[in-house]
Amino acid sequence: MRQSSLVVIANRLPLDDNAAPDGACEWRRSPGGLASALHAILEQTPATWVGWAGGVGPAPALPDMGSLRLRPVSLTEDELRGYYEGFANSTLWPLYHDAVQQPTFDRGWWETYRAVNQRFAEAAAEIAEPGAAIWVQDYHLQLVPAMLRELRPDLLIGFFLHVPFPPPELYMQLPRRVELLRGMLGADLVGFQRPQAAHNVAQLAKKLLGVVATDDAIAVDGRTVRTGAFPVSIDVTEMRALAARPDVVSHARQLRHDLGVPKRVLLSVDRLDYTKGIEHRLTAYSELLRDGFVKVRDTVMVQVAVPSRERVESYQDLRDRIEGEVGRINGEYGRVGEPAIHYLNQPFARSQLAALYQTADVMVVTPLRDGMNLVAKEFIAAREDGAGALVLSEFAGAAAELEQAFLVNPHDVDGLKDTLLQAMKADRGDLTARMTAMRQHLTEHDILAWARAYLTALDHTGQLAERLPANPRPRRRRPPRQRSAR
Ligand code: ADP
Ligand code: F6P
Repeated sequence: MRQSSLVVIANRLPLDDNAAPDGACEWRRSPGGLASALHAILEQTPATWVGWAGGVGPAPALPDMGSLRLRPVSLTEDELRGYYEGFANSTLWPLYHDAVQQPTFDRGWWETYRAVNQRFAEAAAEIAEPGAAIWVQDYHLQLVPAMLRELRPDLLIGFFLHVPFPPPELYMQLPRRVELLRGMLGADLVGFQRPQAAHNVAQLAKKLLGVVATDDAIAVDGRTVRTGAFPVSIDVTEMRALAARPDVVSHARQLRHDLGVPKRVLLSVDRLDYTKGIEHRLTAYSELLRDGFVKVRDTVMVQVAVPSRERVESYQDLRDRIEGEVGRINGEYGRVGEPAIHYLNQPFARSQLAALYQTADVMVVTPLRDGMNLVAKEFIAAREDGAGALVLSEFAGAAAELEQAFLVNPHDVDGLKDTLLQAMKADRGDLTARMTAMRQHLTEHDILAWARAYLTALDHTGQLAERLPANPRPRRRRPPRQRSAR
């Protein structure tokens, strides 16, 4: 493979293999914040993206996506279990999200996590030009920066954590806490969603490594690792263009009609994940129905919950609980042809999401903890009409930016109920003022602004950022079809 002067490493490539109804494999865009965010900028940037293409077995050959080259990394069945489902998503993921679910510390997973990180590091080292910049993404690959430095000391190495970095007292539970911290600090620049994360890492560096550390610089092994907050964003241009498309506008109208032309539509769109607060939200909504504050004929709730990490037991248990609760609520409060909750456990095209966002009177985004939450930003970008209310968890990174949302503590079910009612009753003038301010913020802080800020901080010169497109252009509608190696 040709060498690149900018290499991005992320667990996932922006395409995921997927079984079509006829059993053949087809490629579809990966759901999830990281793939959405990076895909938007990299498709038009001369760079190589190293990542897993979904599935197990030998890595498939993948065509370029515009100026972006894809370098797939293979995973075996055991690696998928130990690295992705195990250490990344059953140890680090719950721990980094305030341990809202008990993390599992399985001693067998560590070696697999380390070995897969080494494979990603070697793949990137192989294709990086001398002096290239490498941008490593997220908790799946936390050891890669130090491994790369070992393999290729000539490289400029960046690391960005899309999820929260936990407070020291939680991080200290990790049996491999020193290795993981050292792994990340192999980078020249470590970026987070929120300044608090950089503060937590500095505290840990002092405590675990005994080094001099501030909230923006840590001295390790004779080098200075810079740290800072770079809140990730969305492709605002894409979402606005989608929302303005006549077929999307008429689909939104049709959706409202199909929902029975209610007075209010409440919408939630999440990966089916225990961090997203879906159960707390259902409890609040069910109590509003029980106490007569909300009537099924007037109000409809739509919960989109796209399947995620389906082989992990805690995700299977969560799905059972949620589906049981939706069934209970519909059984108790629904009427013939008028369910209280429309539950959709399926992926949607971007244009369908844009139509759904336009259908919502109240967008309910109430994670118990979330690095950023791009759904909240997508909803704002999709509302050219300036209408609609956003109820947003204080524990989503987005809350620090979208201050005009109806902010709420999702653990406080009574507070959540009050806030939902407040948002449902808000007058149009209030909503427009809030929406205008949030849309303005997003226009100035889109995904390109994020990438430019990070890359400029990484190389100091602005040369890396110059490779980014001046404006994101609308994406092609269909990903290329190709047979899977699975
Ligand atoms: P996370 O990174 O935890 O998945 P985010 O809210 O930051 O959460 O990002 C989720 C991304 O996945 C968004 O870009 C959203 O549009 C996309 N997404 C969510 N639900 C679906 C769905 N049902 N189908 C396709 N994409 C989805
Ligand atoms: O945003 C956090 C994150 O883990 C991303 O890295 C990823 O894109 C998203 O959640 C979806 O998760 P997964 O890649 O496990 O489907």
